[in-house]
Amino acid sequence: MNHVSLINGVPGEHVALSDRGLHYGDGLFETLAVRDGVCEFWDRHMQRLQLGCERLHIPPPSPTLLRDEAATLIHGRECAVLKIIITRGSGGRGYQVPLPALPARILRVSPQPDHPASHARDGVAVRICDQRLGHNVSLAGLKHLNRLEQVLARLEWETPEIAEGLMLDTEGRVIEGTFTNLFLVDGEHLLTPELNRCGVAGIMRGVVLDIAQRIGLACAERDIDLDDLGRADELFLTNSLIGIWPVRTLEARRLPVGDITRRLQTHLEKQRNLDCIA
Ligand SMILES: Cc1ncc(COP(=O)(O)O)c(C=O)c1O
Repeated sequence: MNHVSLINGVPGEHVALSDRGLHYGDGLFETLAVRDGVCEFWDRHMQRLQLGCERLHIPPPSPTLLRDEAATLIHGRECAVLKIIITRGSGGRGYQVPLPALPARILRVSPQPDHPASHARDGVAVRICDQRLGHNVSLAGLKHLNRLEQVLARLEWETPEIAEGLMLDTEGRVIEGTFTNLFLVDGEHLLTPELNRCGVAGIMRGVVLDIAQRIGLACAERDIDLDDLGRADELFLTNSLIGIWPVRTLEARRLPVGDITRRLQTHLEKQRNLDCIA
């Protein structure tokens, strides 16, 4: 029988009502692409999960256990999405954490989203969201379970022609998309917003930065504002499932799908085939 979810290693759909993930968003998650029957960038996802657990003081799950459970779930599936959620588990008194905490492992496979192939080829239309991202240095970069800012931002538009919305922080810096990280090409330079106050340090963002470095492209993480976006020669978005989507329009501005974006897409395709482990 091919199960779609495992909760603490047991096939099932139901999480304890007392789980702190539900009550407080007390946990983390990873979303991995399964392609050709394997999880892409497994080691990077596990590193981020480990680091996130350390920062939230959640006992990290055993990597071999997670690997075995992931392998069980994706067995026989060519193309899918694997979501791994780690919560601090149940218990404690109010916000006070239980000692020792017994974290919950929730693994679930689902079909790949059916984004049109044209998104990666021709680019996507992007808007600027009104909803802002608040600063919190202790949570910045983490893929934690509190995603209300993104949920509110995503409520701002319904038209399917717009694929993504960019989010600014409360001081007007451009940070990321609602479910993607953002890159700008300025001449021969690759830039991406610094994520030390808010935002999610995406796995694909890290992969793209590493590729850029390997192929000798000057790249920097720094504060970016709307004027920088207006001046950019190319813009693109990244996440683990979509890879790289060029931005074709940002509000009323049209942008070309430039050479640097194309080069990075080509390198990413090669790297994806090499860096698949489950
Ligand atoms: C808010 C946000 N930023 C960035 C990303 C990209 O992260 P990753 O590259 O790890 O998929 C995501 C992914 O879901 C996200 O939700």
